Amino acid sequence: MDFFAAPTAPYDSAAAEAFAETMAATLNAGAVSAMTSVGHRIGLFDVMAAMPPSTSARIAEHAGLSERYVREWLKAMVTGRVIEYDPLSETYSLPPERAACLTRNAPLGNLAVYSQFVTLVGEVQDRLLDCFRTGEGTRYGEYPCFHQIMAEDSDQTVTASLFEHILPLAEGIMERLDEGIDVLDAGCGRGAAVVAMALAYPESRFTGYDLCGDAIAFASERAEEAGVDNVTFEHCDMSDFSDRECYDFVTSFDAVHDQKDPQQLLKAIRGTLRAGGTYLMQDIGRSARLEKNMNFPLAPLLYAISCAHCMPVSLGQGGKGLGTMWGWETAQTMLEDAGFRDIRRNLLPHDPMNVWFVANP
Ligand SMILES: C[S@@+](CC[C@H](N)C(=O)[O-])C[C@H]1O[C@@H](n2cnc3c(N)ncnc32)[C@H](O)[C@@H]1O
Repeated sequence: MDFFAAPTAPYDSAAAEAFAETMAATLNAGAVSAMTSVGHRIGLFDVMAAMPPSTSARIAEHAGLSERYVREWLKAMVTGRVIEYDPLSETYSLPPERAACLTRNAPLGNLAVYSQFVTLVGEVQDRLLDCFRTGEGTRYGEYPCFHQIMAEDSDQTVTASLFEHILPLAEGIMERLDEGIDVLDAGCGRGAAVVAMALAYPESRFTGYDLCGDAIAFASERAEEAGVDNVTFEHCDMSDFSDRECYDFVTSFDAVHDQKDPQQLLKAIRGTLRAGGTYLMQDIGRSARLEKNMNFPLAPLLYAISCAHCMPVSLGQGGKGLGTMWGWETAQTMLEDAGFRDIRRNLLPHDPMNVWFVANP
């Protein structure tokens, strides 16, 4: 059978042309996403947000970058309707309403952070093609910037809201942290949330476990720089984790669905909690049912990250490959099957992406 033959079945040519236009817009959106990632990583949005309308030479000078590259980037972003251009003065500007979701510490959250996931898919595409053919998985080390991107994501999703919105979900936990308890963060990545908690609660003792040595090294340096001595980070594959009744509070931030065996991990987390302990679990809050995700604005991005990262890294550990969109229903069932009780499912109004479970052993 010739897979590349032109379609012979009759089709609605108006619908086909309309769809081709949609696909052209998708190509442009992909291109703007890729250039957004460049602009974020090289700092151009932050530089431009603080400048009046300026020539490409002036912007490049302020950013300490090559003018020729900056000018070409600006043209992509002008035609992508991100940057404004005045042809008379040949100046470019980033309006404050756009800077509000494209800069570091942006009041609406920095969406440019997520554009890096789009470029990450491109970076591993050749490897992914192999995986499609063989069904095998990948390893974290094959994704050059994953932990850096994830830490930026988590800094604004988790760390920034930790004390105001997230910890209060677990009733009484802030008081217990003040008094002094043992805390584990499972799959801690670069450890920002743990370090923030260790700083805020000097009477408590914190441990962060992660599969990736480079993320653990970064987290340890971060703790040292912050001058905290009540936190330990350990390079640990939690697939075999079985320490019983060691902790009063366990957290996992976006770190269950891409594990080798999420069900086993949840059982181990329950087993490591002492009587009266609490588990706080953040994970992607969409549905396990594809049709229920159709209207979620970032659904294609989440499924793409799943296909290129979360599913293959789990498969690569010999795991289930549940994927990013395993669904809150699956998570809730697994928490129940792990023996947790009083499972509360929370949604935070400012964070449509995630679900926050609080449960007791
Ligand atoms: C999506 S990242 C989240 C990282 C971090 N919690 C954050 O919010 O930035 C998932 C983390 O789980 C870790 N992980 C995956 N499989 C693991 C395993 N078997 N044992 C320990 N950690 C694991 C990964 O290395 C990664 O850092």
